[in-house]
Amino acid sequence: MSCTVVVCGFFGDTGKGKIISYLAPRDKVAVTVRAGVGPNAGHTVVHEGREYKLRMLPSAFVYDRCRLLIGPGVLINPQILVREVQLTNSQNRVGVDPQCAIIESKHIQVDRKGELAEKIKTTGTGTGPCNAERALRTVKLARDMPDLKNYLTDVPQEVNEALNDRKNVLIEGTQGTYLSLYHGTYPYCTSKDVTASAACSDVGIGPTRVNDVVLVFKTYTTRVGGGPLPNELSQEEAEKRGWAEVATVTGRIRRAAPFNYDLAKRAVMLNGATQAAVTKIDIVYPECKGVQSYEELSQQAKTFIKKIEKEIKVPVTLIGTGPGTWEIVDRRNV
Ligand code: IMP
Ligand code: MG
Repeated sequence: MSCTVVVCGFFGDTGKGKIISYLAPRDKVAVTVRAGVGPNAGHTVVHEGREYKLRMLPSAFVYDRCRLLIGPGVLINPQILVREVQLTNSQNRVGVDPQCAIIESKHIQVDRKGELAEKIKTTGTGTGPCNAERALRTVKLARDMPDLKNYLTDVPQEVNEALNDRKNVLIEGTQGTYLSLYHGTYPYCTSKDVTASAACSDVGIGPTRVNDVVLVFKTYTTRVGGGPLPNELSQEEAEKRGWAEVATVTGRIRRAAPFNYDLAKRAVMLNGATQAAVTKIDIVYPECKGVQSYEELSQQAKTFIKKIEKEIKVPVTLIGTGPGTWEIVDRRNV
């Protein structure tokens, strides 16, 4: 039995989706629960040659025996959810908590103008205004929506029962530590806390139930929207290095910087990380593309991983070597 929380140690977009899509089938995970903010997240999963961009459903959909739940802390856009359920053909294994709050078009309108759009440069998906209304206790909940009736389930109950039955559970966080409303670069941040403790609260498990916190980093750092990014590269330089990614939800170009050890160290502290994952090592060290064992990584790549471990003082157990589910080095003792 194991309960693993997966969260990001930078500004989001470090490849949590890919890590989850590997862990779910590899560890025969019975239940994966989405935590985090809402459809402002974009997780890219490449499975059997097909690319999926998910904003609501857990990335564990690739493992068809896994139950896919959304915790009460998460905001739901019903249209996006229903579309993703169809896309992944997962009607009979999706569950939404009745207490999830609902994003309406009025929230999206507010998010797409004024300071939120121009200064904070939000994703414009309505999550901030919806969370604000939730705090005012006037927001609609999933239990009020006939479209979602078939999916409603007591998510905290299901998750805790799965753990009582000694099954494997994954908690899928979204965004990243430095986008947290509490620990991030306020006011350039998202609308709630997104660290590991918040992820537990989002899905209704207590901190004593967690066995592992996997903190996901990318080989370089990226950020979309406003706010500070230490050692930011020019767009020209980022493009030259192949680091100028396009954001999943908004299509904006992500700003880029080298791996930031100081941010990584603090993220380990804030999340109580027990392990780290480092993704996209093949972008910086192309000779590592598709490699599945640590020994086969190049000397330079190994030196980089060792340096991270020395700085952050937790083991790097998972190393992403390409976008595909199985393009990964797994150094856990499983
Ligand atoms: P909001 O979460 O849409 O309110 O956006 C607030 C800030 O967080 C903006 O800078 C967004 O670009 C950023 N952000 C929100 N969600 C994500 C994500 O999933 N990945 C990366 N950045 C995000
Ligand atoms: Mg993303």
